[in-house]
Amino acid sequence: MDFVATKVDDCRWIDIRRYSDTRGYLSVIEGNIDIPFEIKRIYYLYQVPGASRGEHAHKQLSQLMFATSGSVRVTLNDGKRKKSFVLDCPWKGLLVKPGLWRTLDNFSDNSVLMVLASEKYEPDDYIRDYQEFLKFKGL
Ligand code: TYD
Repeated sequence: MDFVATKVDDCRWIDIRRYSDTRGYLSVIEGNIDIPFEIKRIYYLYQVPGASRGEHAHKQLSQLMFATSGSVRVTLNDGKRKKSFVLDCPWKGLLVKPGLWRTLDNFSDNSVLMVLASEKYEPDDYIRDYQEFLKFKGL
């Protein structure tokens, strides 16, 4: 099962396609072309005060995260190893696989974190208890 086996190193940066000319930049993401899933949902986090968010894992959901403005730190944890990524540019996307505990913090002023998701919102896809997460991972 994907969830159990996923490691932090299975996540990777994706250079988001961009087109530039004298008028500036335009970036585009097409499902199943630029990222390995169909986009079923988009949500975004903004005006986050000095707090952390996330603190959960997903059983099935894959996501692409990127900051269209400002910067955000995303820390992924597979139960054995943690890895942090700073999302600070609109063409630097982080592909986040299911089966990883994630913490989002260090939101800069005016940051906007965009999340493209492979599934519609499904509360049962969440694991919000860290001990339960470790059990799911067989640890
Ligand atoms: P929550 O999962 O607590 O945010 P975080 O990703 O920081 O852990 O979500 C906050 C609220 O938004 C919660 O009431 C559920 C709701 N929500 C939706 O209705 N649909 C969605 O797609 C998402 C991501 C959240």
